[in-house]
Amino acid sequence: MSALIQSAPSKLILCGEHAVVYGQPALAVPLGDLRAYAEVSAGTPGSGLSFVAPDLGEAWYAHVKPEHPLSELALAVLAFFGVTQADLVLRLHAEIPLASGMGSGAAIGTALVRALAAWFDQELPPTQIAELVYASERRFHGTPSGIDNTVVAHEQAIWYVRHVIPGAQTFTATIEPVVIKAPLHLVIGDTGVRSMTRLPVGAVREAWQADPPRYEALFAAIGQVVHRVRTALADGNQQFLGALFNENQALLEEIGVSSPELHHLVAAARQAGALGAKLSGAGWGGVMFALVTPDQRSTVAQALHQAGAARVIATTVAST
Ligand code: MEV
Repeated sequence: MSALIQSAPSKLILCGEHAVVYGQPALAVPLGDLRAYAEVSAGTPGSGLSFVAPDLGEAWYAHVKPEHPLSELALAVLAFFGVTQADLVLRLHAEIPLASGMGSGAAIGTALVRALAAWFDQELPPTQIAELVYASERRFHGTPSGIDNTVVAHEQAIWYVRHVIPGAQTFTATIEPVVIKAPLHLVIGDTGVRSMTRLPVGAVREAWQADPPRYEALFAAIGQVVHRVRTALADGNQQFLGALFNENQALLEEIGVSSPELHHLVAAARQAGALGAKLSGAGWGGVMFALVTPDQRSTVAQALHQAGAARVIATTVAST
């Protein structure tokens, strides 16, 4: 068979990050125009699985690095299909800034699973893909809520609530499609500071363990904002939405996951007239986004460039 390519989108958490780990709702959207790609082709007989990932600066054989999260993921997918031996070359490429809060890990994993499924002529529903990728995300992030792999695999705007079962290793999740009445014009600013999700997530866990009442109140306040964001999205009320994103940013600053660079870009976007702005993802670096009217788009993008953003991405999000 000749080479076969599959892809998966990046994602943006609109609101509710961090609190979602503790059972509060969050809203996330896929960004279909910024994607990760996985190409599968036949390898030399006896070579097993080999990976070529120039964006990660890596090339490796699965049997040499079986503990690599992507080796584990590919081997888990083959086991799921009942394939015990395969000689394949897996080439991975991402347009998504890495370790930036835009779900590059989940997107690369999802593209890989989709490509292997297509190679072996298997139909996998999004929930199954999300489950396979979740297991590999755990290697990158520790205790992820599951929102990243879910929004990427479903490729749809989602309302996500994780239900933790006390004492159990597993959890269930409520996943609902979200109505976006008026398209959202977003300008994303990348601080250029790479941040490993598990570090801020771990710091929030420690802070919560040290002072549960304070942190649970903050998580609940974020949950309230997310409920109101869902209503504002359904109503197409952009002014209110902007104010709610600002409110969520203030709460994220209080839980300690913003950074001087994020704060600076958020302030620059607001000063340039954005309806609202907040960090997105785990924080301590990575990206922020501003909600703008179509007319404000270039002014806000320019303001983010001038404020030192490493990359500025303008995108539009609609119901899928
Ligand atoms: C990371 O994209 C979002 C966090 O809420 C962590 C998680 O949900 O697993 C910070």
